[in-house]
Amino acid sequence: MTQSNIIVALDYPDSNAALHMADQLDPARCRLKIGKELFTRSGPDIVKMLQQKGFDIFLDLKYHDIPNTVAKACAAAADLGVWMMNVHTLGGPAMMSAAREAIGSQHDAPLLIGVTLLTSMDQQTFEAIGLQGTIQETVLRLAVMAADNGLDGVVCSAHETSMLKAELGSQFQLVTPGIRPAGSAKGDQHRIMTPAQAIQAGSHYLVIGRPITASVDPMQKLIEIESELA
Ligand code: C5P
Repeated sequence: MTQSNIIVALDYPDSNAALHMADQLDPARCRLKIGKELFTRSGPDIVKMLQQKGFDIFLDLKYHDIPNTVAKACAAAADLGVWMMNVHTLGGPAMMSAAREAIGSQHDAPLLIGVTLLTSMDQQTFEAIGLQGTIQETVLRLAVMAADNGLDGVVCSAHETSMLKAELGSQFQLVTPGIRPAGSAKGDQHRIMTPAQAIQAGSHYLVIGRPITASVDPMQKLIEIESELA
């Protein structure tokens, strides 16, 4: 297993495109994230194919359902041998603890991560769905709930990591998207940090998509990011 803290987001519509990108990367130097689009089209087969190439897989399906259903889905993901998976913390304490119980806590169990509030949620949407207070307070409350119910960490903005680390300690894993090396296009991300800034602020894992996958030489870009971190 690699020690890399870089997770490359394989946001592709089919397995050919995902495999083509994976072939340009080194499993000793990054892990891969499979999300809803790729998984819905290519299913467990793409997970297995990428694992056979030596990659650790973060299965980013953000499960959110009744506790029994989420527990069964998590057990199925664990059977695929993924390295990390996630659930939506808004599913509540019983759902999160059912997920934990379903995959166990042995050292080889997948890392179980919670999504707090999606970064696409602005204050207006937050209020429209009936949530109260501030987005930041809510992220903190949901992250504390995740920790209390056995999750290993949360997905969060790099701008939230120092608050979460102060509250939850340095063992609670913070997985941060919205990473842009200096000079990369922001794309649709708003609150960005460079890889070094994010690690400095307390991120354990960096989810990086387009800065690597849209680069003319993805492996070279990965090496540049590694050296920025070193
Ligand atoms: O290409 P880019 O680096 O923006 O990709 C970031 C990845 O992280 C995408 O797969 C995106 O769906 C995911 N993500 C995110 N913000 C979140 C949660 C996940 O950008 N809050």
